[in-house]
Amino acid sequence: MNRLARALSTPEEQRPAHQKHPLARMLLIGLAASVIGVLICLQIDWFPTQGSTQADQIDTLYDVLLIVSVPIFVLVMTVAIYCVIAFRAKPGERGDGAHIHGNTKLEVIWVTIPFIIVTALAIYGWIVLDDIEAKQEQELVVNVTGEQFTWTFDYPGEKVKSNELVLPVDRPVHFKIHAKDVLHSFWVPVFRMKQDAVPGIETNTRVTPNELGSFPLVCAELCGIGHATMRQEVRVVPEDEWEAWVAERREGGAAPEEGEDPIAAGRQIFTSTGCNACHTLDDADATSAVGPDLNQLAAVAEDRAPRANAEEYVRESIVDPPAFVVDGYSGDTMPGNYGDQLTPEEIDTLVEYLLGLSQTGKGE
Ligand code: CUA
Repeated sequence: MNRLARALSTPEEQRPAHQKHPLARMLLIGLAASVIGVLICLQIDWFPTQGSTQADQIDTLYDVLLIVSVPIFVLVMTVAIYCVIAFRAKPGERGDGAHIHGNTKLEVIWVTIPFIIVTALAIYGWIVLDDIEAKQEQELVVNVTGEQFTWTFDYPGEKVKSNELVLPVDRPVHFKIHAKDVLHSFWVPVFRMKQDAVPGIETNTRVTPNELGSFPLVCAELCGIGHATMRQEVRVVPEDEWEAWVAERREGGAAPEEGEDPIAAGRQIFTSTGCNACHTLDDADATSAVGPDLNQLAAVAEDRAPRANAEEYVRESIVDPPAFVVDGYSGDTMPGNYGDQLTPEEIDTLVEYLLGLSQTGKGE
């Protein structure tokens, strides 16, 4: 017979001091530890600043989940640790423990209580989500597209496409989210809202930014070798600044203008198209190693592509990545749609930029 069973079957007054009311003692220690655990958890600053009107309710929801789950964790651990210590076998004790088979009352309790807790939390979460994702008036619609390994944004009402997410402050935004290749997840931590980007369907989320500034926008779904580099920024600006940005994008876009410095124009395309998410290029402050290093590209281009000249090699590598594959890299990591995304002029500018840098030594 094990020690717990023996302790419980021995009359109260005959038990040693530490075995008196073992259940009450465990619960009391568990209760004290739960209170301490909850207090510690509520002291921790779990989140970045609140950047949307949705953030406050999400943070409250999280605190409620903490308050409910910490005591359960602490209680379970306390009972387990208490039993290990109080009822451990004495030296020389070799017998089996008592064979206990089923306890209907206990089983009904430990199924019913968790069922009530989980159901109540699910209803609470549903009510919060339903409230903060409700359709609003004057919504700004933004189509978000995720692909390996960059985000692009399309403002259909404004007829503007951009590789940068710029939002007016205090205006509700309805994000319609798409994916070109694999699963991604659109997440701006300061907004608190996160939504999967799924190929073939449109997912939605709504946010009203209420804090000016630049905040990280990250991909929160493991989507391939460049997942960790799939980070951009969202800029929340005053309404008039946003309108000026829209007007500027509508006229100029990412295409280089007459008389513009070709290096600056090339760098702009390189960065706004997301090349910097995967390649290293000193001139553009790009340091990722998902794809080949592009410093000194002109010098190695000839060797890498014996059947093409340097310019053909670079152009081909942009529009049809599997055409030439550098040793140690895969031909299907890079998206194959840059030929559609970029205008012929933009591709010219990009090719000139990549080759020009290394020929003039500016890429060193
Ligand atoms: Cu896209 Cu991770």
